Amino acid sequence: MSTKPRILVARAIFPEVLDFLSQHFEVESNQDDLDWSPEELVRHLQDKDGALTTGSVSISAALLAACPQLRICANMAVGFNNFDVPAMTAAGVQGTNAPDVLTETTADFGFALLMATARRVTESEHYLRAGKWTRWSYDMFCGSDIHGATLGIIGMGRIGQAIARRGALGFGMQVIYHNRSRLDAATEAACGARYVDKDTLLQSADHVLLVVPYSAASHHTIGAAELARMKPTATLINIARGGIVDDAALAVALREGRIAAAGLDVFEGEPKVHPDLLTVPNVVLTPHIASATRRTRLAMAQLAADNLVDYFFRGTVRTPVNTPLPVARSA
Ligand code: GLV
Repeated sequence: MSTKPRILVARAIFPEVLDFLSQHFEVESNQDDLDWSPEELVRHLQDKDGALTTGSVSISAALLAACPQLRICANMAVGFNNFDVPAMTAAGVQGTNAPDVLTETTADFGFALLMATARRVTESEHYLRAGKWTRWSYDMFCGSDIHGATLGIIGMGRIGQAIARRGALGFGMQVIYHNRSRLDAATEAACGARYVDKDTLLQSADHVLLVVPYSAASHHTIGAAELARMKPTATLINIARGGIVDDAALAVALREGRIAAAGLDVFEGEPKVHPDLLTVPNVVLTPHIASATRRTRLAMAQLAADNLVDYFFRGTVRTPVNTPLPVARSA
């Protein structure tokens, strides 16, 4: 009988990362990428010591109670709102996430979505593909400028700062930001960003970009009241998490032209998308791909795998989400 720790890889991942894990663990993998119900997940996890999860795999108090052997969940995502962190800590289960390795890739995508939205890239492409383009006209698909505009970033962690640098240094934007805590002066200077309160940001930004982590406190950071404070020419970009924006209120604001356009990579209740967002033309919709380059996704999976190896064989982890470290469950 094997004495290796037993690991569940709860969603399909790169074969090379599975090979790496198999050198250290007895691995069961959901390589067919089946959508397991919470009960099915428990069935697969009940005899496991650790799990490699993605943001769509919910680790709840009920699951922890049903899986007494489980000691670590390593998320292949920087966000970890799929973890009930207090319940994990109380149960002595370590959680880890996958920060840093995705910062620049995600910032690139934030900028791509901003540019596609403000310059109406997908809307005009749909027009062309539908055979509607018969002649040039002076105001066809006029959008709004990125260069020289005011970029308002809500949530100024590592990804927010990387986006600020792109805006300030690459596009000559005035960058303002709002965050729970203000950055130190040297960091503000390095990313060319000025701290303002949320109302000032909403009222003065030409483009509002959200990169705040999801929590009860950040739920509906942007709702009808906030949309009403934005400029009618403004764009809104959400690469953070579904639920940060009230998608129903956003669809109304877009339809009524209260803001110019939005770019969304994340949605409340995804992969479902609010039906009204699917029918308004002035929104760019992408399926949660901000970190999706092969190199970065591989690095995220490898970091999750390294956290599992370090936990079981070195008694430490690289990127904990519950600190102080939980007292490990007895083996
Ligand atoms: C993606 O959304 C992540 O949190 O890594």
